[in-house]
Amino acid sequence: MNIDFGLGNTAEYQVALRAAMELGLAAKGTTSPNPPVGAVIVDSSGRVVGRGHTQPVGGPHAEIMALRSAGNTARGGLAVVTLEPCAHTGRTGPCTQALINAGVSQVVFLHSDPNPVASGGAKALQEAGIAVQQVQAPEGAEDALLPWLTATQLGWPHVTLKFAQTLDGFTAATDGTSQWITGETARNHVHEDRARRDAIIIGTGTALADNPSLTARYLDGRLREKQPRRVVIGTRDISAASKLHAAGYEQYGTIDQALSQLWDTGARDVLVEGGASLAYGFLKAGKVDAIQAYLAPVLLGEGRGVVSASLAGTLADAGRWRTAGVRHLGEDVLWLLAQS
Ligand SMILES: NC(=O)c1ccc[n+]([C@@H]2O[C@H](COP(=O)([O-])OP(=O)(O)OC[C@H]3O[C@@H](n4cnc5c(N)ncnc54)[C@H](OP(=O)(O)O)[C@@H]3O)[C@@H](O)[C@H]2O)c1
Repeated sequence: MNIDFGLGNTAEYQVALRAAMELGLAAKGTTSPNPPVGAVIVDSSGRVVGRGHTQPVGGPHAEIMALRSAGNTARGGLAVVTLEPCAHTGRTGPCTQALINAGVSQVVFLHSDPNPVASGGAKALQEAGIAVQQVQAPEGAEDALLPWLTATQLGWPHVTLKFAQTLDGFTAATDGTSQWITGETARNHVHEDRARRDAIIIGTGTALADNPSLTARYLDGRLREKQPRRVVIGTRDISAASKLHAAGYEQYGTIDQALSQLWDTGARDVLVEGGASLAYGFLKAGKVDAIQAYLAPVLLGEGRGVVSASLAGTLADAGRWRTAGVRHLGEDVLWLLAQS
């Protein structure tokens, strides 16, 4: 029995697409400067028979991994990929040719490839007689490719500004205490997120005040398998006795220097973790693409704000962000914001 994965049969490919998106998310943080793509192969009876995601630079792309795991069962099947299959030979061969050789009869993909060198995959597949369809992301599914897509279009790393705040907008009490505003579930999410980024950035103020290690850890303190690059912005010296020194870090004098060097060395997705003065610098320079705010059900009435200086003197001038998602993390809430 052949399944028609056309528009009349959205349920089948939506399940496969969710699976492909989860595979892409599993690869996030390990593939830059390449995109974290996920792919699944569905056989002609509707069963998922192959799964794969992008391997670290120089390794196979997601489609190749999925085709390998599907073997001969890919023939006559459907490939669901989060990014349009590439049609060019880079460090690896074109994925379009591998799909054609494997005898796949249909390809569904989520995002077109914005990279002019790699684009054209959909056309190449159609010319080989394969039915190709571009689809939308299922409601609520986390899209691991968004930062990479923005970075590729900008020619600059995608920047997410992250902070933990009380309900009334403070990141620390008047005496400076800030550990911990959020609960364990939210803090665990921060560490999971760190492992999925190419770099974590802080200002010298936070480096000197908190002596952070900026590592990605499990709840029991063990280091996660993937560690992001640690970056400090500012001119003051960080002590050789600091945890950052032991963990290894890079330091840059300005935001532009940091982002330009990060881009040149392959970083596409970076997380700015504060403090308030660096957050102001990034926002004022228009360098923030997304905000990740962890909101705790705590009121302080007075304290230190998320951003160190005024961004708008009157409400009409204040930038308004778009809510991209809201997630409960224990008693706290993660509010995801994107540029509107
Ligand atoms: N709750 C949270 O989510 C959270 C997160 C992070 C930090 N914090 C707290 O925030 C406090 C530190 O915040 P902070 O505002 O004092 O320090 P900060 O923002 O971490 O660092 C300030 C320093 O960064 C450099 N800098 C800032 N903007 C810059 C720009 N546009 N260009 C170049 N360099 C720039 C400057 O370094 P130089 O002076 O060396 O040139 C500046 O003095 C700590 O107490 C920490 O606990 C809270």
